[in-house]
Amino acid sequence: MRLDKYLCESTDLTRSQARLVLGSGEVTVNGEVIKRGTHVVRDGDDVRWEDDKLNLIGLRYIMLNKPAGYECSLRNSQHLPVMDLLDVDKRDRLHTVGRLDVDTTGLILITDDGQWTHRIISPRHRCDKVYLATLAEPLPDNAEDLFTAGIQLEGEDKPTLPAVLERVDELTARLTIQEGKYHQVRRMFASLGNHVLALHRERIGSLALDADLQPGESRYLTPAEVSDLAQVGEN
Ligand code: URA
Repeated sequence: MRLDKYLCESTDLTRSQARLVLGSGEVTVNGEVIKRGTHVVRDGDDVRWEDDKLNLIGLRYIMLNKPAGYECSLRNSQHLPVMDLLDVDKRDRLHTVGRLDVDTTGLILITDDGQWTHRIISPRHRCDKVYLATLAEPLPDNAEDLFTAGIQLEGEDKPTLPAVLERVDELTARLTIQEGKYHQVRRMFASLGNHVLALHRERIGSLALDADLQPGESRYLTPAEVSDLAQVGEN
């Protein structure tokens, strides 16, 4: 990789800032000052900026326990972005894997790996998303069957994919869906004349929200967790 790219990929520097830093002789490769951005960095080279060793950031995979009041989208938001909860470099490269509503809490994944994201959110791969919903009204006796059959939501071409409803108590239900239409869970319950008072995502595919993470806390996924989710829809 070229040295100017390496500098950008391992720090918060932009391309033009990297060029200035290089030009002023602040960067060494294996102890030698290198000013040329085109210099090729090889595996094992020791690259330093003002003596601090630089390592490539690489792809990142993070789980966050989203608190209520934070917004997954970045633009035109009246609320704080979830990204503000992360203390990481190059935050602008990261995106959320799908979205949760401002009031929804629980598991949200954050990454800079677009292919991985696609795998998880594409309905084609049938990745489970599990939500715990607190409802305003008790559910009708046939709610399970209605959700299994698919719900025709207003403004959508097709009914929802089969969803699994499990009653936890009179006003709490666990719902597993495999797609992520806009406000899908709230709209599915609304189609039964009900109202979701609180919504919490517990799991995505095989990955459950870590019980040790308090609202607002995050951690990196393990390599095994990353590869498990990369394989959703394979079997
Ligand atoms: N469905 C919703 O209605 N809201 C969410 O935040 C997630 C799924």
